[in-house]
Amino acid sequence: MKLWGGRFQKITDQMVDDFNSSIRVDQRMYHQDIYGSIAHAKMLGECNIISKEESELIQKTLLQILQDIEEGKITFEIDAEDIHMNIEKILISRIGDTGKKLHTGRSRNDQVALDFRMYLKDEVKQITSCLVELEQTLLSLSSKHLDTIMPGYTHLQKAQPITLAHHLMAYFQMFKRDIERLQDCYKRINIMPLGSGALAGTTYNLNREMVAQQLGFDQITQNSLDAVSDRDFAIELASCLSIVMMHLSRFCEELILWSSHEFSFIEMDDAYSTGSSIMPQKKNPDVAELIRGKTGRVYGNLFALLTTMKSLPLAYNKDMQEDKEVLFDSIDTLKQCLPVFIKMIETMKPNKAKMYAGAQGGFTNATDVADYLVKKGMPFREAHEVVGKMVLHCIHNHKTLDSLTIEEFKNFSLIFEEDIYKAICLEQCVEGRNLPGGPAKQAVLDSIEYGKQFILKTQKFL
Ligand code: ARG
Repeated sequence: MKLWGGRFQKITDQMVDDFNSSIRVDQRMYHQDIYGSIAHAKMLGECNIISKEESELIQKTLLQILQDIEEGKITFEIDAEDIHMNIEKILISRIGDTGKKLHTGRSRNDQVALDFRMYLKDEVKQITSCLVELEQTLLSLSSKHLDTIMPGYTHLQKAQPITLAHHLMAYFQMFKRDIERLQDCYKRINIMPLGSGALAGTTYNLNREMVAQQLGFDQITQNSLDAVSDRDFAIELASCLSIVMMHLSRFCEELILWSSHEFSFIEMDDAYSTGSSIMPQKKNPDVAELIRGKTGRVYGNLFALLTTMKSLPLAYNKDMQEDKEVLFDSIDTLKQCLPVFIKMIETMKPNKAKMYAGAQGGFTNATDVADYLVKKGMPFREAHEVVGKMVLHCIHNHKTLDSLTIEEFKNFSLIFEEDIYKAICLEQCVEGRNLPGGPAKQAVLDSIEYGKQFILKTQKFL
């Protein structure tokens, strides 16, 4: 017998039962469902909507059900549709009529919104703490590579020398924004919808604030229609997670490139690489590739959610049951990717010599030659032109700028003197860029320090 069976004369077709049921997906919210119901039951008792004894019996039994679920003693039923009705049905089977009072002044529409929000609050914290761990890894790797010179690129063409620390700290900034976005999204998840009923609130004098307080919510929702039809918070989270994956995929792409024979900037640890079934020499960066690949499904989940919500009339529609599967998939994917990514970068070995050699080729100090001329009085555009000609000369003669003789330098401009060599060595190119946000050692050390402070502040949120 269905909990809603009263107005029906026929039983549900088995195919419909199976089709309609979301228990396979939403059973993971059992904990939230039970604590949400306990808070509701407690409030019903305090407000004298049910008796204190009834409220206590419901609460006690719900805790026993929780324990039984955790001990694996309960199997959920497809035809009880979802986690909400499964638990209510078990409650009723244990305490009869008293159990039937739990759903007073509540609908599954506000109940599912509550459980979903509670569940997501936990997950946002867990994912944020994975991101904090990633940030700590980046800070510690950066501290070790303040002097590891490598080429920086634009258009994937060598541009100017930087350090590995500076490059890693760029990713630190990206994941810092991700953490901030998640914290912001958390504020809009942290609003309590119970008391909105099916759509139009309820005639019982519920104490909504009391429920919010018990469950650790900041606020209560302000419109009952909106409360049961809003999934913005889920879309926002799916979007935040997509951006995290976008960042991971960019990082992975670089690591894949860097571990190619052509670059050889890093070597992945054997434990974080895989071989080929046919080519004995191969060591593939599968972990990085798989994370890059999984970015696709996380984007897909965001679009699935946006599309499900598109054009839905107010208030709750069953379409919305589709919200959880996709968002849970994004959450699971992130929770799988982040720890393995952290380990992968912790164990990879940067090849300092290769990075340094990479920074040497490709005229990465050309801007510094121009800056040298500018500092001695030549207008920048003119200096740019002179150095352009020097680069062409070097290309034709298979030389680098720093290997030109002082006579050759002087052929291009009489401004050049012996101090040019010191001004354009890679170390000076990096150290000379010592403004805030730049690659020089002190500037990167400062950004590491800010980073550490940010981590301390974030840990208070967790
Ligand atoms: N299982 C549903 C969901 O996940 C909640 C139930 C509300 N359904 C309803 N027909 N009123 O969205």
